[in-house]
Amino acid sequence: MLTMRTLSIALLPGDGIGLEVTPAARRVLEQACDGEDLRPEFVYYDWGSEYYFRHGAMMPVDALERLRVHDAILLGAVGHPDIPDHITLHGLLLPIRRGLDLYANVRPAYLYPGVRSPLAGCEAGSIDMVVVRENTEGEYAPVGGFVYHHMAEETAIQTAVFTRHGCERIIRHAFELARRRNRKRRVTSITKSNAQAYGMVLWDRVFRIVASEYPDIAADSLLVDAAAMDFVRRPAHFDVVVASNLFGDILSDLAAIVAGGIGLAPSANLDPQRRNPGLFEPVHGSAPDIAGKGSANPLGCVLAAAMMLDHLGEGRIAARMEGAVRAVLAGGEALTPDLGGSATTAETVAAVERRLAADR
Ligand code: NAD
Ligand code: IPM
Ligand code: MN
Repeated sequence: MLTMRTLSIALLPGDGIGLEVTPAARRVLEQACDGEDLRPEFVYYDWGSEYYFRHGAMMPVDALERLRVHDAILLGAVGHPDIPDHITLHGLLLPIRRGLDLYANVRPAYLYPGVRSPLAGCEAGSIDMVVVRENTEGEYAPVGGFVYHHMAEETAIQTAVFTRHGCERIIRHAFELARRRNRKRRVTSITKSNAQAYGMVLWDRVFRIVASEYPDIAADSLLVDAAAMDFVRRPAHFDVVVASNLFGDILSDLAAIVAGGIGLAPSANLDPQRRNPGLFEPVHGSAPDIAGKGSANPLGCVLAAAMMLDHLGEGRIAARMEGAVRAVLAGGEALTPDLGGSATTAETVAAVERRLAADR
């Protein structure tokens, strides 16, 4: 008898174009699972800025407990023009990443055939890197405060926190990934230890120690300013890049754009020990400038959903989803305006669905 595997997926569309790209990713995922021994069950959560307007909080107090019971979380984006960003993000996305200890933020950037890089002379496949971003501490640690708040002498303290444990586990994850990918077998660590002489000096030291355990993987260290230059000058050099929370945030947007656009970039927030469900999301935000127009590129979210299935052990179905996206891009079919086309979100999704159906 056929045994059906059920996947329980928390669906958090969030705000702005998150409400447009998550239904797209859900449709594609459901179609990819159709006819397989796999049944995705989505549980919808209306948390986000509209929830905030009604309840004065971005999500309920028991949100983390409710999320923990799922196999994975698919999130759109968070951010609303009428609410300060530090309230929305510190009310939803960042506490989930920290509270579920999703310390590895994995952000691949691949230049697909049919996609034009803004850099001259880049061939398809020549950009093929993954930014592994530390996701629970560093510059994003919620440590600091105001003194003389809103007074003339106002003072703000914002403290970065680098723990040996935090550095070691993310760096180790990067080396393991470089082994698994088996491409250029290189890990590049990015810091600013010439200026940030405590936390990043600790990071560099831990990097050298962990690197010595992986003699089969090349290990480089770059300062973040030089790395920003090299992401543009020679993106093909990079394989796995490991960086702190803030540097990884900035560099993953840079990696996304040199590989053709932020609308295409997926990400996984993982607890590699699998004590907690992973959170999968496109790298982009809520894009208020295009929200509600039906023109958002859904492919970053579709690829994030594919990363989700891959993480859940369904690599074959994930590969079919990615293959359908690749075929749509290669054929120049139904591309959204950010990729130079004029298609709507719905037309792009329909093209992906046709490619999936043709692959049966
Ligand atoms: P953004 O990623 O939302 O948008 C940057 C630019 O890229 C905009 O011009 C936008 O139209 C375009 N863009 C982004 N995604 C696109 C897509 N799928 N298709 C086509 N074009 C796309 O970044 P921002 O403007 O700096 O931030 C907007 C809001 O989103 C802010 O509130 C910010 O805090 C939030 N934000 C949230 C997340 C997240 O939830 N993970 C990530 C980044 C920003
Ligand atoms: C991202 C976003 C978030 C981050 C913001 C919205 C807090 O930019 O996921 O890249 O910096 O982590
Ligand atoms: Mn970002």
